[in-house]
Amino acid sequence: MSAQEIPAVAPTAERIQQHRRYLMCRPDHFTVSYSINPWMEPTRPTDTNKALRQWQTLFDTYLALGHEVELIDPIDGLPDMVYTANGGFVIDGRAYGAKFRFPERVPEGPAFMDWFRANGYEVVEPVEVNEGEGDFLLVGDTILAGTGFRSTGDSHREVGDVFGRDVVSLTLTDPRFYHLDTAIAVLDPVQGPGGVERANIAYLPAAFDEPSQGILRERYPDAIQVSDADGAVFGLNSASDGRNVIISPRATGFEAQLRERGYHPVLVDLSELLLGGGGIKCCTLELRGGSR
Ligand code: ARG
Repeated sequence: MSAQEIPAVAPTAERIQQHRRYLMCRPDHFTVSYSINPWMEPTRPTDTNKALRQWQTLFDTYLALGHEVELIDPIDGLPDMVYTANGGFVIDGRAYGAKFRFPERVPEGPAFMDWFRANGYEVVEPVEVNEGEGDFLLVGDTILAGTGFRSTGDSHREVGDVFGRDVVSLTLTDPRFYHLDTAIAVLDPVQGPGGVERANIAYLPAAFDEPSQGILRERYPDAIQVSDADGAVFGLNSASDGRNVIISPRATGFEAQLRERGYHPVLVDLSELLLGGGGIKCCTLELRGGSR
């Protein structure tokens, strides 16, 4: 059979697990005291102990899968610090710092940069407003960058300069999906033969404007497109090591789609952290390269 006839993704493809190093922050001070996204409802009570238990399950899951997890100390008065994905964007030991859009989170930027410096990362201080890996996703050699709600278009140019990589800008249009990592999951960042990008992302088309949907369709013809129902429970806000994909137990359609493609879904419920508008990926920052 010729190369053209080989399906891009065999249903039983054996997925290869890659080692990951993550940065997390214990939700000791988690609560919802302000509202900067439609999920946050300050009048609704939060249960910090429940948030801690659920977060601990995610932490334990990463370790059980053989990954490494570093911790940054939580700071009283910064309840959103648990969402470490927003703390920066790290490739090859270089950390591009975050500059948050809303004043409530601005102090987190320097706190994360201090952690990066203390842990041997080269820190690039941001000029432009950007919320780190919440809006920047590395797929192959390309950075997918989100805008529309938080990170600015100028930060897309800046992140490209900092890492010397191509940046593909995507515009989010639904306020529920205000960060790119709520609308796209990178399932496998490795490029296929000849640098061709493979069916290695999952996304929610309705979260993007029409031109961005066109870009995604063209670049990732084999991507998993999730249902609105799975998107709405933050199913895409997940972490993948190339084989195991940690997802919300409520994203049942996405779970089935992953199994069909040979991935191994691992269900972790972060319902309490969803009250702050965050899920699994939000609580996870990938540390690529660097010390240790
Ligand atoms: N309450 C936080 C905010 O609105 C949640 C951040 C979620 N993080 C993410 N990577 N999507 O900024």
